[in-house]
Amino acid sequence: MADQSSDLEHKTPDQLTQSEAQAELARLSDVLTRANRAYHGEDAPFLSDADYDRLRRRNSAIEERFPEFKREDSPSRQVGAAAADGFGKVTHAVRMLSLSNAFEDADVQGFADQINSYLNRTGPLEFTAEPKIDGLSLSLRYVDGQLVQAATRGDGEIGENVTANALTIDDIPQRLTGAPEVLEVRGEVYMSHDDFARLNQRQQDTGGKLFANPRNAAAGSLRQLDAAVTRSRPLRFFAYAWGETSAPLAETQAGAIERLGSLGFQTNPLTTVCRSIDDLLAHYRMIEQRRASLGYDIDGVVYKVNDLALQRRLGFRSTTPRWAIAHKFPAELAWTRLEGIDIQVGRTGALSPVARLMPVTVGGVVVSNATLHNEDYIAGRDSNGAPIRDGKDIRVGDWVQVYRAGDVIPKIADVDLSKRPDDATAFAFPTLCPECGSEAHREDGDSVRRCSGGLVCPAQAVERLKHFVSRGAFDIEGLGAKQIEMFFGDPTLPINEPADIFTLARRDQANLGKLQNRDGFGDKSVKKLFEAIENKRTIGLGRFLFALGIRHLGEVAGTNLARHFMSWTALLTTVDRAHEAGKRYLLAEEAVIAKRAADLSAGQRPKLQAVRDKIWSDPPVPADSRAAWDDLVAVNGVGAVLALSLVTTLAHPQERAVIERLVAELTILPPEAQATDSPVAGKTVVFTGTLEKMTRAEAKARAEALGAKVAGSVSAKTDLLIAGPGAGSKATKAQELGIKVIDEDDWLGLIEGL
Ligand code: IVH
Repeated sequence: MADQSSDLEHKTPDQLTQSEAQAELARLSDVLTRANRAYHGEDAPFLSDADYDRLRRRNSAIEERFPEFKREDSPSRQVGAAAADGFGKVTHAVRMLSLSNAFEDADVQGFADQINSYLNRTGPLEFTAEPKIDGLSLSLRYVDGQLVQAATRGDGEIGENVTANALTIDDIPQRLTGAPEVLEVRGEVYMSHDDFARLNQRQQDTGGKLFANPRNAAAGSLRQLDAAVTRSRPLRFFAYAWGETSAPLAETQAGAIERLGSLGFQTNPLTTVCRSIDDLLAHYRMIEQRRASLGYDIDGVVYKVNDLALQRRLGFRSTTPRWAIAHKFPAELAWTRLEGIDIQVGRTGALSPVARLMPVTVGGVVVSNATLHNEDYIAGRDSNGAPIRDGKDIRVGDWVQVYRAGDVIPKIADVDLSKRPDDATAFAFPTLCPECGSEAHREDGDSVRRCSGGLVCPAQAVERLKHFVSRGAFDIEGLGAKQIEMFFGDPTLPINEPADIFTLARRDQANLGKLQNRDGFGDKSVKKLFEAIENKRTIGLGRFLFALGIRHLGEVAGTNLARHFMSWTALLTTVDRAHEAGKRYLLAEEAVIAKRAADLSAGQRPKLQAVRDKIWSDPPVPADSRAAWDDLVAVNGVGAVLALSLVTTLAHPQERAVIERLVAELTILPPEAQATDSPVAGKTVVFTGTLEKMTRAEAKARAEALGAKVAGSVSAKTDLLIAGPGAGSKATKAQELGIKVIDEDDWLGLIEGL
């Protein structure tokens, strides 16, 4: 029996027979129930959070495959079985994205133009327009018509399991009839103005916490560990989108919303189909006029391409869809006094000025800080030296106008010079880092002043560590920004660089395990922390690269570099080889900037290409180094700026040593193969000539989504050339190299239905 069950554990849900599935569901129910009890009953938990999540996911996957064997005592019915910090975590089957913003009418036209140019079409497009509800988004998963899970957005990939709480909301149906087998309905949880006022009154009467605005009240009420508290809060829900569906809801956005309505969801009555930009703008103004009398908060109007086939073609950028945009209402404004300017030093050494304000309420939220961006901004200039705020600078003691746009950090819109105190002096931006005293420089063309101290600067070191442990990076449970602040510079058990995290347990042991006697740490929490750290000793290359906190290296670039180089060693070798070329690139950029300035002041059009070419070729950069550089900048999303940042960071002895000490502690895994069932996965493809059915951008995005690498030029590494009419030298070269050449229709046939 023991043997059989351990065998079962290694089978995927698809490999299980019916009786095996039943046995496995019984085992999982038993293990997970005991794990819950052990965890909540304050016993020593016997499963790590990762294992717990893995078993829960396995349980759900088997249930999805064999719904008839779902048990009455199934762990998936025990909603809200909480992981460490309160709620269980849920990995969204389809990522929950945000929206890009339009602020002016012209941005809306720009949005439509971009869509047409991406699709290589002209003429009017159909859009839906609907209010943008100011609440928090929620994803509701229905399987066979039964609500099985509700999850908050979280970071878009992983949210919190709030099923028990969602079940208390009247607007959320628990059962659907006539829905696709799997349906994830997405929408906004919000609170009406009346309900908000009554709730705050009740809170005041009972000495509870007052909420600043309906949005905060809705968020605070949904994220309650005790579902009974959520039940007592008047939450509502509008459905406006969907995630995974086993069958399409409709052919149009409007049709899908109507379908959601007929399934029993509340959908917003101000949703309309518009056939022109003028229509969209008219609907926007109508909604804006009715804003105050709607009875709930909205902060703009969302436009979505109506045709779902076009939505699919348009697809997504890294965090937003190309087919939708939020047209925001103008921000709310308030006047207050600027009491001081502090300088904060960030992860990349940027000196960021922060306005300390006399607290003031802006759009229902008390604001006491605002960003001042950089020294030019304070001085009243933009990055090109052109005046902003009519050239008015900002001084301590000034009356300033503050605004908030959406969730973003408050900003300063204007200064009232008539109220400026006589003794106010222009702000002198520091040229030394306030944290470590190193010189702070401005690079040509950069409006930001940066501390040159690198990891010598404690502010940079600590911010890098915080980034290192953050969600998209190593994401170590129990080791967040707060703990980093605590361990940084600690006299007995410091975490001063990433490698220190992975030697923490060893050092604590050598220290006779003193950590568990510290404030905030007990026997159990220390054990959990060390376990969480151990769990992350193995990490994917993309995440690892992002975690390093190298300037300009974001999540997308990390993933793309990982897919291209497949191993840390391969990447490092190329970066080292590219060093010479990188140095030369820097020289070339400096020469170009000087030449541009000289040409412009002589009243000539700048002639830059020759300058650049000369520096590259005189004396020639060694071919090997040039090839390595070209290899780097050919990676999708990696430009010369990031390549240079990689080259310089890894050539810096101290940075290099820090990274090498870290690498010695880790196992870095190659990225998982992408979309392996696609015939182009892992293949390098090149497009050339004119494409008639799609634009280059669309072709490239589509190919990449299917796991192909898209290169700009044909080489021995190319697997496939897609040649449209007018293909020239690339097609010839491909033929010489014996590379397969197909036309656009062949290509579409190849990827059809994927
Ligand atoms: S559509 C793929 N429609 O706004 C895009 N979002 O800023 C899915 N929101 O995360 C979102 N009202 O929480 C959409 N009518 C509406 C919305 C709406 C509010 C929120 C949503 C989203 C955020 C993006």
